[in-house]
Formats: sequence, structure tokens, C-alpha cells
Amino acid sequence: MKKLRAAITSVGHYVPEKILSNAELEKMVETNDEWIRTRTGISERRVLENGATSDLAVPAVQMCLKNRGISPEEIDVIIFATVTPDMFFPATACVLQEKIGAKKAFGFDVSAACSGFVYAITLGTQFIETGAYKKVLVVGADKMSAIVDYTDRNTCILFGDAGGAVLLEPSEDESLGILDHRLYSDGTGGDFLYMKGGGSLNPPSHATVDNKLHYIYQDGKAVFKVAVVGMADVSAEIMERNNLKGEDIDWLVPHQANLRIIDATANRMGLDKSKVMININKYGNTTAATIPLCLSEWWHAGKIKKGQNLVLASFGAGYTWGAVLVKWAY
Ligand code: UT7
Repeated sequence: MKKLRAAITSVGHYVPEKILSNAELEKMVETNDEWIRTRTGISERRVLENGATSDLAVPAVQMCLKNRGISPEEIDVIIFATVTPDMFFPATACVLQEKIGAKKAFGFDVSAACSGFVYAITLGTQFIETGAYKKVLVVGADKMSAIVDYTDRNTCILFGDAGGAVLLEPSEDESLGILDHRLYSDGTGGDFLYMKGGGSLNPPSHATVDNKLHYIYQDGKAVFKVAVVGMADVSAEIMERNNLKGEDIDWLVPHQANLRIIDATANRMGLDKSKVMININKYGNTTAATIPLCLSEWWHAGKIKKGQNLVLASFGAGYTWGAVLVKWAY
């Protein structure tokens, strides 16, 4: 029997207009442009002044659907990766469904932090491969500015707001599409990157607010050590499983947390820097949005071609990490 293969058939993205530069952060915390650029690769990031995470997703999805020439009513499934949902419930996927008018779809959120998009696209692939659904929208969006403490220099320099989306459909050509995926998690990472306030462990109270529990906490050094190994390992693993060498890969599409982590992954894969999608300089770490934001920017610039091999790779809170091998289909 012919194998049903899922393919990315459209992409879209959105970044808010307001830029928060390193120079502006210098006025807010004890930091400097030189430190931020050399330690992270970030020069500026975007901030959504009004609205919520779903408002980052709506224009990204609209671009994605317009690009494919289909209406929202044709969407079967919405999978929304985020750590900054509009609310605990309903799911931001349902909020998005209403905002775009995807009346026929069902939707749910995925919580896997910076690996959210890699997890979500792997899930979406299953819905297509089983033959159950034909049009799956996979969204990664985060309004990180809602949970960043702009008095904490360890984290406020890193994060930004953005949204990205891809459409998955059955591939017309079995050799093109999502070819493989590897996902991992390790709960011991929970001590190093978290937001402790607001959930059932620490329901909102004056004390949780006073203790800043509704902000991101990260032990950067600890996370760096495992991220640099984890993202490189899983990228190398997916290449080995598919008998691919560095020269066979056209694009590495890495989660944008730190340029040094991206460089280490590219080195491990034997890739020239010209084959690595990097926009961390402009947007910082936009959590679930980084990978679809890269895909959409590069596709719209005409740089991704049908038949090319892409490795999507991420590492984030949980810990969660993973990689997806894509042979570009459109
Ligand atoms: O996306 C989810 C996964 N997250 C990641 O992958 C992030 C992983 N971690 C990182 O990317 C890096 O650890 C950071 C960029 C967060 C920090 O870089 P680092 O090279 O690990 O710096 P550090 O935390 O070891 O700090 C080095 C020094 C310290 O000063 P001392 O103790 O050497 O005097 C810090 O206090 O830099 C200081 N520092 C800063 N200086 C200026 C920390 N933050 C800043 C800052 N500006 N914003």
C-alpha cells in the first residue's frame, strides 16, 4: 500500500512592529550591547504592545492560508504550540479558530516550550499519515514579553514575541514531505528553566506576585551545557538514521536560543554556516515561533527549493528536544 506522507504545503509568519534594541535594554538593566551580541548573537527583538499570543498567530495563519489559496473553513485540525497561551483555558487553538473562522476544525494546544513547534509538527504528521485528516495547521507563537521580568538581565535580553504557521497536507509525491522525527524529554530539566507561578502548584496570590513567580526563571549556564549537546546529538542522530552526510543537508533550521548553540549544532552536522537559517539577531528567542518564523522568512525570500533536505532542531524547557527531517515539497 502506498504510504501516506505529510508535507508542508504553505508557510506564514508575523512579528510585531515594536523593536526592543540592545541599546534600550542597556537603559533598563546592567548590560551592554557587546555582551549581548557576543554571548547570544541577539541585536534586537520584537514586542507586541497590545494583544495576546493569538494575535501573533492570526496574521501568520492568514499569510499561510493566502499563500496556499485556501479558506479557513477548509482546515481540519489546529495544533497550537505555546507557553504563553492567551489563558489557561480555553485553548489558544480554539481562540484562534474563532478569530480566523476555521469553523470545521478542532484544535488543541501543545506545551513543550522551545520544542513546541517540533513536537506539534510531529503530532500533525500523525494525523495526516493515518489518513484521518487532510489539512492540519501547525502554529508556533509566543508573547514572551508577557512573562519576562524586564529587571532580570539573565532573561530579559533573550526573548521576543512572534508567530509562525505551516500547513500540513498529504504529499502528492511519496518521496517528499516529513521523512522522519525524533523527540525527547527529560524531566530533571525542570529545576533549571521554569515559570512556577499561576498553576495549581502556586495559584496566583499576592505572595506569588511579590516573589515574581509569574516570570521566567532560567539557570542559563546549566541549560546551555545540556542544550549545546542535546540539539547537536539529535540533529546528528536524525542524519545517521537516514544515511545523510553534511553535504546532503540543504538547510539546518535551528531553534534560535543562542548563536553559540546553533554554531555547535552546525559544526557537529558538518554544515557550512551558509546552510543555517539564522535570524536570532533580529528577533531573539521567540520560543515556539522560532522555527516556523525561519521557514516562512526563508521561503518568502525564495531560498527554499522543492526537493531540498531540511533538518528542524530544537532544545528547550522540560527539558524537551527533538529534530524533524523534511524533504521540501513545494
Ligand atoms: O530556549 C530555551 C533553552 N535556553 C537556552 O538554550 C539558553 C541557554 N543558555 C544561554 O544561552 C546562556 O547561558 C546565556 C546567554 C543565558 C548566558 O550566557 P553565559 O555565557 O552562560 O553567561 P553566564 O550566565 O555564565 O554569565 C557570565 C557573566 C556573569 O558574570 P560573572 O559571574 O562572570 O562576573 C554574569 O553575571 O556574565 C554576566 N551576565 C551579564 N552581563 C551583562 C549575565 N547576564 C548578563 C547580561 N549582561 N545580560
